[in-house]
Amino acid sequence: MVHSTTPIVWLESIEPLVRSVEETPDPIPTTITGTIPSWINGSFLRNGPGKFEFGKDRYTHWFDGMAMMHRFHICEGNVTYSSRFLRSDSYISNSEKNRIVVSEFGTLAMPDPCKNIFARFFSRFQATDNASVNFVKYKGDYYVSTETNYMRRVDPQSLETKEKVDWSQYIAVNSATAHPHYDREGATYNMGNSYGKSFFYNVIRVPPPGEKATEDSADLDGAKVICSIRAAEPRKPSYFHSFVMSENYIVFIEQPIKLDLLKFMLYRIQGKSFHKVMTWDPQYETIFHLVDRHTGKVG
Ligand SMILES: [Fe+2]
Repeated sequence: MVHSTTPIVWLESIEPLVRSVEETPDPIPTTITGTIPSWINGSFLRNGPGKFEFGKDRYTHWFDGMAMMHRFHICEGNVTYSSRFLRSDSYISNSEKNRIVVSEFGTLAMPDPCKNIFARFFSRFQATDNASVNFVKYKGDYYVSTETNYMRRVDPQSLETKEKVDWSQYIAVNSATAHPHYDREGATYNMGNSYGKSFFYNVIRVPPPGEKATEDSADLDGAKVICSIRAAEPRKPSYFHSFVMSENYIVFIEQPIKLDLLKFMLYRIQGKSFHKVMTWDPQYETIFHLVDRHTGKVG
């Protein structure tokens, strides 16, 4: 059973986007029109939703489909294609139960009737590791990312799923965007939120690749929050999806697309999905924050 108060409107033009597909784990040849320059070699990796049903349940938002990784491997003018579903905890639990058991952005999973009342309550809001948004790179390793505190390390060749990484185990953030930036030295910069007594937008820096204790393992050691920007409205922080980085600065735009934290608490009790807490509040100003990328100082 999946609860949604929003009726699904099917638009023919977007229908392929919300259609479930099969995975293609073994690379297959592709048909090429024209000529691919011989100097283009490597893999083009993309991520996105690829499965929308489990049993009788169906996801009701495009963001919620189970992550499918795609790889176009280009070698001397030839291209092969392969794809695999991310074996996230969400994907595995849904597959085992043959129903949707993990809530996503726009779809609320109904609690397991066998669980006690507290387990039911918390299972509604566990953050997902269905990292369907982007491939990202930290310290030379590839990960797939969404906007929760979880990422999944992946093998960029075989598209196999590796371990789950929790940002909050490394630094004090509860989320990170799926659109980091990279500097010339190979350090990665991202932004994430933290909330306790107040709400902060944090700039994160993960150092360039270094010596690894174990070769085949996730490693975000050395990650640091280099700047914390206090939300202008602590109860209504802004949603953000990405930010800008230049040679010397990080530009963060605090826009009037708001997360209503009071509604968030209320909706937890009422059992409404996350996307309903986002509101457009044009009475708030748009603020441009300029951060010196080298010192972390707000300019
Ligand atoms: Fe995006």
